[in-house]
Amino acid sequence: MDKPRVLIPRGEIEKKVAELADELRRDYQDKHPILIGILKGSFVFMSDLIRKLNIPVEIDFVRLSSYGSGKETSGKIKLAQGVKTPIRGRHVLVIEDIVDTGLTVRFLFDSLGRRKPASLKLCTLLDKPSRRVVDVPIDYLGFTVPDAFIVGYGLDFDEKFRYLPDVCVLEEQK
Ligand code: PRP
Repeated sequence: MDKPRVLIPRGEIEKKVAELADELRRDYQDKHPILIGILKGSFVFMSDLIRKLNIPVEIDFVRLSSYGSGKETSGKIKLAQGVKTPIRGRHVLVIEDIVDTGLTVRFLFDSLGRRKPASLKLCTLLDKPSRRVVDVPIDYLGFTVPDAFIVGYGLDFDEKFRYLPDVCVLEEQK
């Protein structure tokens, strides 16, 4: 079984989430934004972030999936649950755990953009630019990570390790 090694410890994550929340509070204070989390991976980050934000927000979730049960993205995005909240004329902030190829975010932004929100921005905890296939603008970023398989703090491998409190790298056991 592969073994997780800590890449970003929980203390650093907590500090970064607080910094992001400060920045977002300044930008969204009077905008009553809708935060849309991309399930499942973003649920831990989003729940920490909204509690640090401490301004009125609405939340919704979308469930998209690009990985099967392996370590490589299938490249095909499946929509399992769409956004029901009306977003026309509203300020929308998408919350993601990691941007890898960019296909998930591109798919979501294309579909949300057609619904004419007042603004549409992206906040992601992690960015893995080495794997990018399509260009996506990241408005708020936590950390840039290397091209390794990342688990923990909501991220999984085959539905395992989401519960780990640190961001970890999955290393193959020799
Ligand atoms: C992961 C991750 C992102 C997406 C990023 O989700 O949570 O949503 O992949 O990859 P991309 O930039 O290459 O599209 P996954 O499809 O594994 O689903 P999950 O969040 O339910 O684990």
